[in-house]
Amino acid sequence: MPKILDELTISPHKRHVLMCVGKSCGENMPLLKFLKESVAKAGLAEGENAVRVNRAGCLGVCKQGPIMVVHPEGVWYADLDEAKVDKIVESHFKNNAPVTEWVFHAQV
Ligand code: FES
Repeated sequence: MPKILDELTISPHKRHVLMCVGKSCGENMPLLKFLKESVAKAGLAEGENAVRVNRAGCLGVCKQGPIMVVHPEGVWYADLDEAKVDKIVESHFKNNAPVTEWVFHAQV
């Protein structure tokens, strides 16, 4: 294995969330910040149930944003706001129960 790959690390996590902050989703950096804070408040910033949160420039949906996708389940949420983010963190990320009324696509 090349030496440079030995130097790269990804902290352990159970889920990886990509939130769109693209133009058609309102370039919503405040909601991304809120999501990261909500995950931290829920005790999910690290540990075996950690949720890794990253921003995406565009997820290719571009309607009813803000949009986010949760992996590994491949669950997609639309039309997000702070109240919905808090509910998703509590129900989906903490209790493994996706908030189905806001899911518009799921891989499984
Ligand atoms: S700008 Fe958000 S999905 Fe395209």
